[in-house]
This record gives sequence, C-alpha cells and structure tokens, in this order.
Amino acid sequence: MQEPIIEVKNVSFYYPPLEVLEDVNLTVKKGEFLAIIGPNGGGKTTLLKIILGLLKPQKGEVYIAGKRVEELGKWRSKIGYVPQTAQIDYTFPITVEEFVMTGRFGLIGLGKRPQAHDWEMVRKALREVKMEEWSKKQIGELSGGQRQKILIARSLALEPEILILDEPTTAVDPESSESFYELLLRLHEQGITIITVSHDVGVVAQYVDSIACLNRRLIKHDRPEEVIREGVLEEMYGREAAFFHHGAIPHIVVRETPPER
Ligand SMILES: Nc1ncnc2c1ncn2[C@@H]1O[C@H](COP(=O)(O)OP(=O)(O)OP(=O)(O)O)[C@@H](O)[C@H]1O
Ligand SMILES: [Mg+2]
Repeated sequence: MQEPIIEVKNVSFYYPPLEVLEDVNLTVKKGEFLAIIGPNGGGKTTLLKIILGLLKPQKGEVYIAGKRVEELGKWRSKIGYVPQTAQIDYTFPITVEEFVMTGRFGLIGLGKRPQAHDWEMVRKALREVKMEEWSKKQIGELSGGQRQKILIARSLALEPEILILDEPTTAVDPESSESFYELLLRLHEQGITIITVSHDVGVVAQYVDSIACLNRRLIKHDRPEEVIREGVLEEMYGREAAFFHHGAIPHIVVRETPPER
C-alpha cells in the first residue's frame, strides 16, 4: 500500500455558531485520485481550504507528506489549487500564456525571470487543456469554460505533486467535462495525487479510486462501488433525491436540500 500524503486528523471547524466540520478524519494516499461529494454547504470547500492551510481549524491537524501544514515551507509550491470561485480580474491586460506562467511564480522566485524551461512547462500545461492556440490572446477574450481551463493549466504549470480542484467542471459543457476527467486520469497515471470536488457523482465514479462523502461529518470514504452500493448517496442528499440509474452508476437528477442538521 502507498504511504499517506495527506492526513486530516480530528478536524473540527466552526464559523461560529455554525459547526461546518465535525471531527473529520481523512487519509489520502500518495497517487490517490479522490472525489469529495456532498450537498451544498456540506463543508467541501472549507475542508479543501483547511488542507491547503488557508483556514485553520479550531480543532485537529492536517499533515502533508508527514509535515504539519503550517510548516510545509517550499513543499507548498508543489500543491496546485483550482478554487471554486477565483477572484481574477479578467480585464487585466495579460495574455493566456502569461497568466498560466503566474502558476510558476512560487517556483521561479520573487523578482526572477522565467527561463526557457518555465515557458516549456506553460506550453505543456496549455497543451494538456487543449488551449495552446489561445496562448497569445488576452484573458478577457475567453469564455467561462475557457477561463476554467486556463485556471487548471495554471495549476498544472507548477508541476504539482498534489492537485486540488473545487468543482472544476461547473462551467464546462458535458463533453468537455468528460474529457476533463480523462485529463485528470492521465495526470493520475503520472502519479499526481488528485482531490476533486464534484456534484457529478455518476461521472467521477467512473474515474476515481475513491469517493469521500462529506456532510459536516465524513460519512464515508471508500471505493466508488462501495459508496454507491450502500445507499450513502440517498442518506446524504436526502430521501427525496432521485437517482437515475445508468448502468451500475446512479446519476443524481434532483438535488434536494441536505437532511436536517
Ligand atoms: N466566510 C464564511 N463565513 C461564514 N460562513 C461561511 C463562510 N464560508 C462558508 N460558510 C458556511 O460554511 C458552510 C460550508 O460551506 P462550504 O463552502 O465549505 O460548503 P460546500 O460543501 O463547499 O458547498 P457548495 O457545494 O455549495 O460549494 C456553509 O453553511 C456556509 O454557509
Ligand atoms: Mg464549495
């Protein structure tokens, strides 16, 4: 078995008086491809931010590659993050390739200029998301889905060991969404540890090694078949939620309000 790369230990988090996460324990192995699912407000984004060290839990600890997340140092630049809502000023006059290069700034170092290798990594990242012909365009000229793709390219440009994506396919069409998971699968095969938040249970289940179900508590973290088999989805999304079975994998067609807290 692979060693753990991310360990979330007894994490509780409050936006007082609201308890957002309660005693969450989650271990992600090196190279694991994990999807986190759960209803709106279930604490998924909060958990990602805690893993990234952007929020500090009132209780518990997070370890990355054996180190407390607060003490990661340079290792931090090996974690790529695609946030759910990125605060980016798309009117800023910068080209797509320059934008993707900003992903490498942590590696290049303050005040240093990108070298040929850095540009090669940027081109590779843009190739991965099939946006290379847009390299010289201004970021303001992109559609919503294309913006999502260059955000992903930016996180790939830093050659991440861990890639954390928060609902990366929200703005992309279904066809691009499938090919997007194909892309994640290729990165997974290169050994990158991937955590993605998604509401497309049926789609992600076909690609990932494991699914973590989060609704304030971590309800389950197991292989997709196990999560689906045991009726965890119904428990989490509420009995009223309807599932449309497509092969062995259910698709959620009605997303109901989460069960009473
Ligand atoms: N800055 C904040 N201040 C106060 N409460 C917050 C803040 N951010 C999030 N919350 C609350 O914390 C809870 C968890 O939010 P979070 O964003 O982690 O949920 P989520 O699972 O990512 O939901 P979604 O699927 O809608 O993205 C919600 O009830 C939300 O209202
Ligand atoms: Mg969220």
